[in-house]
Amino acid sequence: MMRPIALLGGTGPEGFGLALRWARAGETVIIGSRDAQRAQDAAEKIKQVIPSAKISGQENMAACSAADLLVLTIPFQGHASLLKQLKPALRPGTILIDATVPLAASVGGRASRTLGVWQGSAAQEAAELVPQGVSVVAAFQNVGAEMLDADGPVDCDVIVCSDDPEASKVVRNLAIKIPGIRALDGGKLENARILEQITALLIGLNIRHKGHSGIRISGLPAAAYNSQ
Ligand SMILES: NC(=O)c1ccc[n+]([C@@H]2O[C@H](COP(=O)([O-])OP(=O)(O)OC[C@H]3O[C@@H](n4cnc5c(N)ncnc54)[C@H](OP(=O)(O)O)[C@@H]3O)[C@@H](O)[C@H]2O)c1
Repeated sequence: MMRPIALLGGTGPEGFGLALRWARAGETVIIGSRDAQRAQDAAEKIKQVIPSAKISGQENMAACSAADLLVLTIPFQGHASLLKQLKPALRPGTILIDATVPLAASVGGRASRTLGVWQGSAAQEAAELVPQGVSVVAAFQNVGAEMLDADGPVDCDVIVCSDDPEASKVVRNLAIKIPGIRALDGGKLENARILEQITALLIGLNIRHKGHSGIRISGLPAAAYNSQ
């Protein structure tokens, strides 16, 4: 896959971890931020670890204009406003991967609870805010940043939900560039509700048991799992 991947909010642990993994896999990566310098600093940090990395840093809007594969990794409180701001830069044919989890922590509540979102989930809210022709795909909500920002294989499955089956396939192929990850077609975008809730449960488990949990889906035929 040759198209650049832009991580909007890629200066935070989740976006940075994904950027690191995809840079390591040889993908062209752009880290996006509200501040161009912060984005460049994050890209430089990855270059220090992976000197051959094809990575740069840009302000979110510029990052968005330079890519047609976007990943949203920002806290829920900035979700709707960033999408509204980026709308003019979102071209038809763009795939927007949403990893946002509407945690109650974003409004002062617990990290192990989610907020009610009128549309059903953060990803469904995104689908309502993007221009026609942009495909929203929900994925990566259940992969913790600690697992990504490490060297070993990631012990987690990625369930991919979208109303656009072709976009879902593109994202599953992207997910399996990260060693250890198996990707599964999770059906329609409305199932993002469940993916987002699972993250709140995983955070609770991490707190209770002091670890970094992920998910694995068992029992399906081998063909259901996209893997490396
Ligand atoms: N951390 C995890 O393990 C994990 C796992 C799965 C899913 N997620 C989800 O992924 C998203 C990102 O997680 P994170 O831990 O990386 O979050 P974070 O560090 O709180 O935020 C990521 C980046 O978003 C930008 N940002 C912050 N507030 C913003 C706002 N109001 N508007 C626009 N941009 C804003 C910041 O970048 P700039 O200041 O550079 O713009 C920040 O570095 C969250 O929705 C989270 O629930 C996280």
